[in-house]
Amino acid sequence: MKESIVVDCANKGATINPDIYGHFAEHLGSCIYGGFWVGKNSDIPNIHGFNKAVVEAFKNLDIPNLRWPGGCFADTYHWQDGIGKDRKKIVNTVWGDVVEDNSFGTHEFLELCDEMKCKPYICGNLGTGSAKEMSEWIEYITNASISPMADLRRANGREEPWKLPFFGVGNESWGYGGFMRPDYYTDLYLQYQTFLKQYSGNKMDKIAVGPNGADYEWTDKVMQRAHKFMNGFSLHYYTIPYSFEEKLPATGFNKEDYYRMIRAALKMEELVRRHDEIMSKYDPEKKISLVVDEWGNWFAPKEGTNPGFLVQDNSVSDAIVAGVTLNIFNNHADRVRMANLAQAVNVLQSPVLTQGDKIVLTPTYHVLHQYKKHMGATLLSTTTANTFVGVRDVVDFNAKQQHKEAKENVIIPDLNASASVKHCDKCGKDLYFVTVVNTDADSSREIDVSFANLAGAIAEAEGTVVTGDAYDTINSFENPDVVTEKAISVKIRDKDTVTVSLPPHSVVGITVKA
Ligand code: AHR
Repeated sequence: MKESIVVDCANKGATINPDIYGHFAEHLGSCIYGGFWVGKNSDIPNIHGFNKAVVEAFKNLDIPNLRWPGGCFADTYHWQDGIGKDRKKIVNTVWGDVVEDNSFGTHEFLELCDEMKCKPYICGNLGTGSAKEMSEWIEYITNASISPMADLRRANGREEPWKLPFFGVGNESWGYGGFMRPDYYTDLYLQYQTFLKQYSGNKMDKIAVGPNGADYEWTDKVMQRAHKFMNGFSLHYYTIPYSFEEKLPATGFNKEDYYRMIRAALKMEELVRRHDEIMSKYDPEKKISLVVDEWGNWFAPKEGTNPGFLVQDNSVSDAIVAGVTLNIFNNHADRVRMANLAQAVNVLQSPVLTQGDKIVLTPTYHVLHQYKKHMGATLLSTTTANTFVGVRDVVDFNAKQQHKEAKENVIIPDLNASASVKHCDKCGKDLYFVTVVNTDADSSREIDVSFANLAGAIAEAEGTVVTGDAYDTINSFENPDVVTEKAISVKIRDKDTVTVSLPPHSVVGITVKA
């Protein structure tokens, strides 16, 4: 069956902000310790204590920004514990009750960002901190002149201030950030943000805590009173096909589970659209960014690991979820200007896994690499003529045993796409880039991709694909390169049309020069 996607080259949207492709590193499990940070005396090859292979992997993704130190941890974090020579040891009561020796603190984080050439995004402590502590953190990092905190920074070996472009005021204040009502959060947000100063020419976006998934009331209430005082508004949404209490394993799930997972990921479209609508009541010019600073698959912890460390394998299904979600963000580039996949290393839907000196680039990593061409490009509108796939009237006794109440038809569109254009100065041509996900678990799709209103004719076409034998195929430490980004044939059919065959459960990137 032939399906088609039409890219309208005359219908240009917003610039796809590279910050949509951001990452998140929390003091959780081995995201920081054993992930990004191995310490200066480690036998593992490192750059000033940062795992060299991990740093290089993220540099290859052109990582635009990194969020730190949490997550929930942020609302327990006192930044002065993590500076200077004698660092306080504390218990990480949020994640696994392990001892946190604070050897990775503000200086290490900002140096890591410098090393990876990405922008730092710090999440401040609203839960157990104070307005004074938060404002002094900004002063410490960004003030170039003489002041108590800038002097303390200098005493700790850093003369020049850093630039800090993004600062979040609290994390999930509707949940483990304090179980606040939107009105109470808004009061605190307005108070705290007043004292977050722009020192020495630093231009820092203030990001308010936004909703948990579909909590539209939160968006309405916080936006109504605080919209004049923020640059960004966060949204957290994890792909959890059943419930938080009853999570799927990361591999070995059945087809119904697979389709539920993709359906849950596709819900991001509705969330972004509806939160955008509410935000537009107060901010019709879309000056405030929707910052989806936690997204991704959340599975049950991998057997044999500390459940507080949120370790999970990463399979082709994660690649599909990443592909679909990033397409949705691209298609809403006028409002979604930043996002952070949870989390960067060894936690939840990680692009990178480490074990000692070994490193695995996961299927999710390869999709991020594939999608790089969208970063900074201009969005083009796409129309997809597709069919629907899923499960109908299934009686799967295994699934029934695991999720007794969970029998229903799950029907989703088979194709999901986004497209962009960028001028290639080197080759003097326009570079069109289309990313398409085939969600069908079993069948391939032969599709035509047409470029309507194309000035000129297609000169060259090429493509890559990320897929594997099964939808839960993983890259392991023993076999790290099972799922990678591979070349795929893209045939020029006409002056404005290419044909490509999408394997089952695959993410395909098509590049056309014209
Ligand atoms: O990413 C793991 C946790 O999920 C974060 O700490 C928290 O913000 C969210 O609930």
